[in-house]
Amino acid sequence: MLIKRPADIRSSEITDKQVYLNRREFIGASAATTAAVAAGVLGTEAFVHAATPAPHGRKLENVKKTPFGADEKPNKWEEITTYNNYYEFGIDKDSPSMFARNLKTDPWTVAIDGECTKKGNMPLEDILKGQALEERIYRHRCVEAWSMVIPWVGFPLADLIKKCEPTSKAKFVEFTTFFDPKQMSARTSAIRYPYVEGLRLDEAMHPLTILAVGLYGEVIPNQDGAPLRLVVPWKYGFKHIKSITKIRFVEKQPLNTWQDQASNEYGFYANVNPSVDHPRWTQATERRIGEFLRRKTLMFNGYGDQVAGLYAGMDLKRNY
Ligand code: MTE
Repeated sequence: MLIKRPADIRSSEITDKQVYLNRREFIGASAATTAAVAAGVLGTEAFVHAATPAPHGRKLENVKKTPFGADEKPNKWEEITTYNNYYEFGIDKDSPSMFARNLKTDPWTVAIDGECTKKGNMPLEDILKGQALEERIYRHRCVEAWSMVIPWVGFPLADLIKKCEPTSKAKFVEFTTFFDPKQMSARTSAIRYPYVEGLRLDEAMHPLTILAVGLYGEVIPNQDGAPLRLVVPWKYGFKHIKSITKIRFVEKQPLNTWQDQASNEYGFYANVNPSVDHPRWTQATERRIGEFLRRKTLMFNGYGDQVAGLYAGMDLKRNY
């Protein structure tokens, strides 16, 4: 996401991702088990880049399978938990896997505020009480033109919104990530924190939009946004705000972090759109992590039959 000059580009971004991930897995395992030997054989990189797949967490109970979901093979746990964007823990893809583990996610509350009648701090247990959890296997397309398929466990954001009782003035929903520099190794100068995102109320209420609390049937790992993260499968990954601590109902369109950072490159809508290129790279194709050849990017990430109606009459080149 960051504006990069050639000298800043890491080998991880130009090496084939599978080779890169295999190398990371190998180095990670070596670092964990035979660190002393690895230091001699591999040099210091074993310590600098010890990407570590998340340990397996508590199994979530009563997770329903649902008809929602991509008919595609999900990426591996190791890929989904070592190749992340979570700038609060560093800007490299493997940094969150190394530095997010100490984030304290229990107890957790979400502040509900703005144009709604049920304001206040909602403990996560209350949000989840009586809430059916579902598995949704969604395509995940990052604006950087890589993609994955992820088996999330979550529930419709609409269910929580209804509990908050938005007023007629609420037109947008603004989300904020928890931020604590003591727990987050943040290379803080990279972007402004806390991370903020937003959706139009009808996008937020859409049945495809979920809040995820799990991955592969287990509690969601910290690097993937524990304990509560947004998933909007037809939008670029930067809309998928992690570790949500505040939800505010507002009248005006919120200024999301990446739009604030570089408005010519990142918009508010961020709908996956192969015909609108990023100023510095094509969005027509993508590299699925774990595959060698690039594939064609699908309009609305393949969910157009369900979501295109939300944008009827809008100029999607202007509203990128
Ligand atoms: N949320 C927070 N708080 N901080 C971030 O840096 N990065 C975003 C999004 N949510 C980010 C965030 C970006 S750019 C992407 S592509 C997705 O998280 C990546 O999600 P993943 O790591 O689960 O693949």
